[in-house]
Amino acid sequence: MDAVVLVGGFGTRLRPLTLTRPKQMLPVVDRPMIEHVVGRLGQQGVTRAVLSLGYRPDAFEAAYPQHRCAGVELFYAVEPEPLDTAGAIGFAARMADVKDTFIAVNGDVISDFPLADLLDAHREKGASATIALTPVDDPSRYGVVVCDPDGRVQAFVEKPPADEAPSRWINAGMYVLEPSVLDLMPESRPSSIERETFPSLVQKGLLYAVAQDGFWIDAGTPAAYLEVQLALAGGSHIHSTANIAPSARIANSVIMEHVTVAAGARIAESVLLPYSTVKANVEINRAIITPEHHITI
Ligand code: G1P
Repeated sequence: MDAVVLVGGFGTRLRPLTLTRPKQMLPVVDRPMIEHVVGRLGQQGVTRAVLSLGYRPDAFEAAYPQHRCAGVELFYAVEPEPLDTAGAIGFAARMADVKDTFIAVNGDVISDFPLADLLDAHREKGASATIALTPVDDPSRYGVVVCDPDGRVQAFVEKPPADEAPSRWINAGMYVLEPSVLDLMPESRPSSIERETFPSLVQKGLLYAVAQDGFWIDAGTPAAYLEVQLALAGGSHIHSTANIAPSARIANSVIMEHVTVAAGARIAESVLLPYSTVKANVEINRAIITPEHHITI
């Protein structure tokens, strides 16, 4: 099965980390974000990941020159211009000649949702598209979804004002799509799956959703990029090349390659990216550190 993975964005919310590389090439604990995403798809039966590329496609091509990532074949589809979500999915699927039911995912979502649940519901209902839903406390920065008891989507509202969100169940950024949905994705202009394609499928009664309650993080903001790493590390993760002074204290943190932590430093709930340095007796709490930047959450 093919999966289109959206990795073309500029990652503006993660600047300055994304000024030099795309968001999905940022490290998450022990490997680039894309390897977590594609690896999980591969474990669930996806055999080819079609990367929809826009910003810095060279970073992916350089990292995976053999067109394989986490055991999954890669197909590179480089957008000629930013086409927004539906435009990007349509462009990539056409480039890769996708002909059967396929998966599409946002490339910054790390979750353990079983694709089999989505696929089963999709086939049982005869849906054109089936989306995974997850509950959140503040739905206003997501696509908010209302379903009938059968799972048919009655409303899909992208990023409603905080007091107008019709539910707390949001679009988790994982979809099963029929190739017929590509007809709703224009080739020649940017279009949004959240603002155009899904609302149009709702009108036709062909959009379904499956509620999930497992692990789910959209790692697109600094706070979420920190959170996903603390969750995956489950305690502290210290790379073997890191140089940590014996008197330094490290709690619930991710310390990557060639990091130096000097004597007496105290680090808690933080992520230290490769080659970053913490000076003696400095205290760091809930921060992302790079050689050039210190981002406090
Ligand atoms: C996107 C989608 C939104 C969805 C979210 C999930 O938002 O537009 O519908 O709920 O992903 O992560 P973004 O994170 O790009 O703002």
